[in-house]
Formats: sequence, C-alpha cells, structure tokens
Amino acid sequence: MRAVVYRAYGGPEVVEVVDRPKPVAEPGTVVVRVEASSVGASDAAFRSGEPFAARLFSGLRRPRQNVQGSDFAGVVDSVGSDVTTFAPGDAVWGATGIEMGSQADYVRVKAAGVVGPRPDGLSATDAAALVDATAMAFLRDTAQLRAGERVLVNGASGAVGTMAVQLVQAWGAEVTAVCSAERAQAVRDLGVQRVVDYRAVDVLRLDERFDIVFDVHGSLGYRRARRILAPTGRYLITVPTLGAFAWHLLTLGARGRRSRIALTGLRRDAAKRADLAATADLVAAGALRAVVEAVYPLDEASAAHAHLDRGRVGQLVLAME
Ligand SMILES: NC(=O)c1ccc[n+]([C@@H]2O[C@H](COP(=O)([O-])OP(=O)(O)OC[C@H]3O[C@@H](n4cnc5c(N)ncnc54)[C@H](OP(=O)(O)O)[C@@H]3O)[C@@H](O)[C@H]2O)c1
Repeated sequence: MRAVVYRAYGGPEVVEVVDRPKPVAEPGTVVVRVEASSVGASDAAFRSGEPFAARLFSGLRRPRQNVQGSDFAGVVDSVGSDVTTFAPGDAVWGATGIEMGSQADYVRVKAAGVVGPRPDGLSATDAAALVDATAMAFLRDTAQLRAGERVLVNGASGAVGTMAVQLVQAWGAEVTAVCSAERAQAVRDLGVQRVVDYRAVDVLRLDERFDIVFDVHGSLGYRRARRILAPTGRYLITVPTLGAFAWHLLTLGARGRRSRIALTGLRRDAAKRADLAATADLVAAGALRAVVEAVYPLDEASAAHAHLDRGRVGQLVLAME
C-alpha cells in the first residue's frame, strides 16, 4: 500500500510516498481503508522538526519514518477475530493521535480506540477535516465557555480557528475573530460579524475586555493579553512554549484572570471518542461545517505540505483516490 513518510527533517520536498505492507487485523483491532486524512500544523512540525519539541515524538536526530497522519475517514476493510462492534463495509472516522499512520491506503486502529460511525451524508474529506477536536476541548473543557461570554479568537482562519469561531457562536457566545485581511471573508462566511486584521489593528490595544482570549496563533502571550482580559477572563494558548507552561502553573489557583495550555491530542481515547459524537451532533444540527481549502491526491502529499507552508483557510485534506 502507499504511505506518506519523511526520511529527513526539512521542507515539503522531504515528503515521500512509499510502499509499505498492508496492515493485518489483529484481535481487538480494525483495519480501515482510508479515504481521506487531513494535513495540518502538527504534520508541518513533524516534517520540519520545528519547534524542536516536536522531535520528542518524531525522533531526536532524524525522523523515525513512521507513516504520517493523525486522523482518518474511511471504510472498515477487516476486523480482528474478537471484534463485534464494527464490520467490513462500515463507514467510519477517527483519530490515530500520536501513533500517526493514517496518511496511507490502510490504517490499523484499536476497535475500542478513537473510531466511530461516520455521520450519514458527510463526505470523507469533510469528515477527515472535522475529526480534530482541539477547539472543542479548549473552549468547552479548558475554558468552560458559557453562553453570552465575549471571546477573542487570535488566528481564526486556520484549522483550529475556523472550528473555534463556529463553536463559540453555536454555544451562544460572542466572537471577535483575528486573521489576515486576505482570509477575512472566509471567516465572515462562517457567520462571524466582527473580523479584525492583525496587520491593521493591534488587538492588545482594543478598548474592551474579553472573557476568553483564545490565542490559537500563540503570538499574544498571557502577560500582554491580560490587559484585554475581563477580571475573571481565561487566556488559552495552543502553542506549547515554556512561557505557556509557566503561566499555566503560576495561575493554577487563581480565581481571577488565568492562563491555560492544554495538549488535547494526549487526552484519553474515551474523551476523544465522545468528541466525535459531539461533533456529529453539531454537524447534524447545522451548527458546524467542515472548512476545506483544498483536497490533494495522496501521491501529491508534498504539494499539500507546500500549500500548508503558504497558509490556508481551514483544512487541507489528502484523498486516497
Ligand atoms: N495544544 C494542542 O493540543 C494543539 C492542538 C492542535 C494544534 N495546536 C497548535 O495550534 C496552532 C494553530 O494550529 P492551526 O492548525 O489552526 O494553524 P493554522 O491553520 O496555520 O492557523 C494559524 C492562524 O494564525 C493566524 N496568524 C498568522 N499570523 C498571525 C498573527 N501575527 N497574529 C494573529 N494571527 C496570525 C493565521 O491567519 P492568516 O492565515 O489569515 O494569516 C491563521 O488563522 C499550531 O501551532 C498548532 O501546532 C496545538
């Protein structure tokens, strides 16, 4: 089968499609014929080896040449002898997380892992683009977002941001989105009334206070963002810098303003499986939709990485056609 790997850290040119043995369904596992898998910020980090912390997962001196990809939408190909919850032909979606392996024609996952029935009517490319629940976990669990709150999303046009602005609105809160002028219209198309261009406006000088500052881009920093936080405001940062961990610890017991970092991919399988179901409910209710800027055939994975480096609205997806 075809699979995406890298033999060295570097630019999009290090991305290769190689031949690997098709996985066999062992007890407790399901082999999925992958139809689509997203390519995102973590793929770029694992490919380039930057930030250096990414190498703790992908190999310190050189990549381990693991098959890439952390989410999938596809169809069950075969199941382990003891598996009763899935059958060949079932349409499924799910995440492989830190074990990766989904940017390939087939992937083997635990039957009790992060895999579930794919919602009816959702295409494979849209499903793959919706699997990542980073925005949901940050807003619902870390910040405990409540209806009526004011939320600033810094980095609103990318993969996490386009999900975040939709969730804030779905949960009855008020969103201010920050992104480039080029991608502002795409964010407005998600129902956002107020979109701020970070090149034209210094958001830290806005004359207002937010209950949540969701720093998806990670450029504000808690120390500076405090000035636009309400007295009990929560600052959320996705980028795992030393400062992010330090401010998280320093404000752990705080009742007022506080800073939080979460590593959503490292949560337990049961939590991630529940997120798949919650996402399916939001999609069925018309409150959440996939935002996919482009779909690349698996054989053009390197071109997808080059596109990723130029920036995009929402997600880029590989299709195993
Ligand atoms: N902690 C976790 O568990 C976790 C999970 C998933 C992802 N992440 C991290 O979250 C980050 C975002 O991921 P993503 O997939 O959403 O990335 P992305 O798709 O590349 O989005 C980046 C966003 O930042 C915006 N941006 C660029 N320069 C900016 C600036 N100077 N000020 C404000 N916004 C700016 C971009 O806007 P324009 O394109 O319009 O310029 C875009 O909206 C990545 O660092 C990723 O590694 C962390």
